[in-house]
Parts: sequence; structure tokens; C-alpha cells
Amino acid sequence: MKKTLLEYLICPFCAKGLQVDTVINVSDTTIIDGILRCPCRRYPIISGILYMQWDELGQAALRLLDKKKTHAALYLMLEGRMMKKVVGLTKRLHFRLSFWKIISFWNWKYWTAYLRYRFSAPNFICSQSLMPVIKEAGGYMLDVCAGVGHFAFTATKHISATKIVCVERRFTSLYFAREFFVHQAAGYIVWDAEQMLPFVDGFFNSVVCLDSFHYIDTKYLFSKEMMRVLNKDGILLIPHIHNSDVSNVLPGTPLSPSHYQSLFSDFEIRMIPEEKMLRDLLSECIMDLTHMKDEIVSVKDCYSLTEGSTSDRGVVSVMSVDRAAAITLAVSKSDRYFKKYPTDMLFEPSPANLIVNPIYKVRKCREGIRLKLKFPCRLYKEEFPLIERYFEKKLFISNEELKDEEKRMMLRKRFVLVDVPLRFMSRQSV
Ligand SMILES: C[S@@+](CC[C@H](N)C(=O)[O-])C[C@H]1O[C@@H](n2cnc3c(N)ncnc32)[C@H](O)[C@@H]1O
Repeated sequence: MKKTLLEYLICPFCAKGLQVDTVINVSDTTIIDGILRCPCRRYPIISGILYMQWDELGQAALRLLDKKKTHAALYLMLEGRMMKKVVGLTKRLHFRLSFWKIISFWNWKYWTAYLRYRFSAPNFICSQSLMPVIKEAGGYMLDVCAGVGHFAFTATKHISATKIVCVERRFTSLYFAREFFVHQAAGYIVWDAEQMLPFVDGFFNSVVCLDSFHYIDTKYLFSKEMMRVLNKDGILLIPHIHNSDVSNVLPGTPLSPSHYQSLFSDFEIRMIPEEKMLRDLLSECIMDLTHMKDEIVSVKDCYSLTEGSTSDRGVVSVMSVDRAAAITLAVSKSDRYFKKYPTDMLFEPSPANLIVNPIYKVRKCREGIRLKLKFPCRLYKEEFPLIERYFEKKLFISNEELKDEEKRMMLRKRFVLVDVPLRFMSRQSV
């Protein structure tokens, strides 16, 4: 946790500021292991992660940190016997596993597939098109319900990692976020977003909650809290929110678009059907944040579908928020963000580790590589039906094309090639 974040944190119980109680390990501007305190309690920081939940685990971690037992505190916090063992071994023997490998020890089957294949999920791809908005907002970004930090990783391509704060209720997720996805975030905070958020008013210029709002029970409180911690010129982005009027395999407790809208009735709000957002990104290279909830939008079909099929090109489809399975919400106190953004900047930074999207099985041959779409499991296919509609099922890329900058850019814009963290998986960079 960056020391500079301290002045913006508050205790969610007494609403007073936090101070450093004990520093055990520090590196430059970051507290790695230590303890913070407020007038009413103390909070442990373990491996750079601030644990704010008030429970037995946190108390036990404090007792270990009081005895300077930082490794024991880390193993205590990690979930699952195997995970504790594996992380312990990798640390002791100084060897490094890829993220892909290490999460197989989490022993939580669908979650493992979700995390491994996140870069192919249409909702994740759509969320990337919000980067121009986040860049325009500047300042600090809150990624709430951050998971292991896939979104935060992509955001670091456009804003400094030191301006990102990840909040998530699972310690293990944030441990992986820091280890694999975003090393230098301002803060990694374990906290349940169903309660008051531990930040001063108006601190963030952008707040993002991706694929999570429908899993929060206290939607009224959460929506108020996200707006409270948002700066008056800031923007709240809620990509991929389930619509209760359309069936979903992993619904959470969704609301209808009108009910989502009423949660933010004091603010300017725009809503985009997710499929429209995806098509805009894939075929028009834009992100259009102008749509009002009741607007019917027409969208030209894009290249999509299997290669060679032209039957649907040029056909115009009509989409509405009310009939969309998932939507993106953008909420602000000002209307300066509600416009169209070119998305070319998503592909501008030269990627550190460009690989073939993990959703493709890769077969090398003398002339190039053959790719075949392969879902990790049936549930993944059911959760993300848009993959089959917008990703080519089979693809051949020649050795010459792999070296050609223009072709590579085209493949990036179709998310056949994706930029992933360096230790994400052992698949070779192309
Ligand atoms: C479907 S995942 C999405 C993760 C990430 N936003 C992404 O899109 O990759 C939902 C995440 O929300 C977290 N979550 C659910 N309820 C939460 C709560 N009440 N407070 C904080 N995090 C929560 C889960 O632990 C999980 O990591």
C-alpha cells in the first residue's frame, strides 16, 4: 500500500482517518507489512494488502504481525490448503509459476476458467473500450470488486498504476492482483463493498465496477457510496450489469434497467446495450457514451461471424437497453463524458506480452499457425454466447502475417492477439 494513499483512507466504522501504527517491511513509498490504526481499531497490512474486514482472520493476522511473523500472516490469509502450500514453496525455493498454473491450486473450477479466459470474455473486451473515458477523467481510479485485477492491468496501459486502488473481498484475489497483474497500485484493500467504502468523499476521478454490481445485495447503499467517493467531475462506470428481464446463467440479484436508473436518479446517466458496445468497438473503433436508457439504437453488423461469411454484413440490427442481457452504465454529476470516443488508443501502447487469445487452441505448422476456438467448459460457453458470434471459429495466420505490423494490428483489434501480463501463462509471445 502506497503511503500517499493514507490521507484518503478512513475507517468505515468510526469514519476517522488512519495512521501508521507499525511498519515491519517497507519498500520505498510502499508499506509491505505493517499495521494501521484509527481511533477505534487496528488493521493489518500483509504482503502489501490492507485487510479491513473486522473478523477473526484479521485479528489473528494482527497477532502474528505483532510478533513480526509476516510469512505466517500471509499463509493464514491465503485461501485453501494447497494454495498456502504452493505459495509457501514458490517463496522458499524462489521459483516462479505462471498465473495460469498457480490458480489451478485454488480448487474452484469455474472461477479458474473465468480467470484464465478473462481476456476473451466479451464483457471484459467491452470494458476495455472505456479506457479513453478513464484517461480523460485523470486522477485516481477505484476498481471495486476488482477480482484478480484484469481490468486494472489494462488500465495501467493508459494511466499510472500508482493511481489505481483495487477493492475486493477476497484476499487471495488481491494477492494475485499484486503478484501478477498490477504490481504498483496505490492500494489493494480487502473490504466488503456492501458496507461504507473506506475513502474520504470525492477522492476518485473514476470508479469502475465490472461484472459485479448484480452480485451486491446492498445496491442502494453501494450506489450511494460509489457516488460519495467520486469527485464532482468524476465518472462512475458499471460495465456488464445483468438485466433481470433477460435470463442469465449466473444472474446474481439483478434489477431491470429502470430500477438501475432509479438508483442514480440524482445524476446524469447513460446506458449502452453490451452487444452494441462490442460491435462499435470491433467494427467502428468507437465507444459511444451518448445513449439514454429508452433510446432504440441501430447497429450495423460487423465482420464477426466465421471468416468468409458475408451474409450478415451491412444488415442493421435494432437494440434496446430493456431487451439487452447486459448493459453498461455510466453515471456522472457532469455531462462532459457523454460523447463518442475513438478507441484506437487501446492499441497504441506497444504490448509487453502479446499472445494468441487463450480461447484459441494453437497448432503450429510450417506455414504459420492454425487457431481453433475452444471453450474451457460448457458453463463458460453459456455465460458468454457472444464469443461464438464475434470470434472466428477457425483461423490461419501465416508466418509472414505474424511479422506484418498491419496484420498484427488488425488481429489485435479483433482480440485474436491480446496483451497479457508477463507471467500470465507460458504461451509464447508472438
Ligand atoms: C464476477 S467477478 C468480477 C471480477 C472483476 N471485476 C472482473 O471483471 O474481472 C466478481 C468479483 O466481485 C467480488 N465481490 C463480490 N461481492 C463483493 C463484495 N460484497 N465486496 C467486494 N467484492 C465483492 C468477488 O469476490 C469477485 O472477485
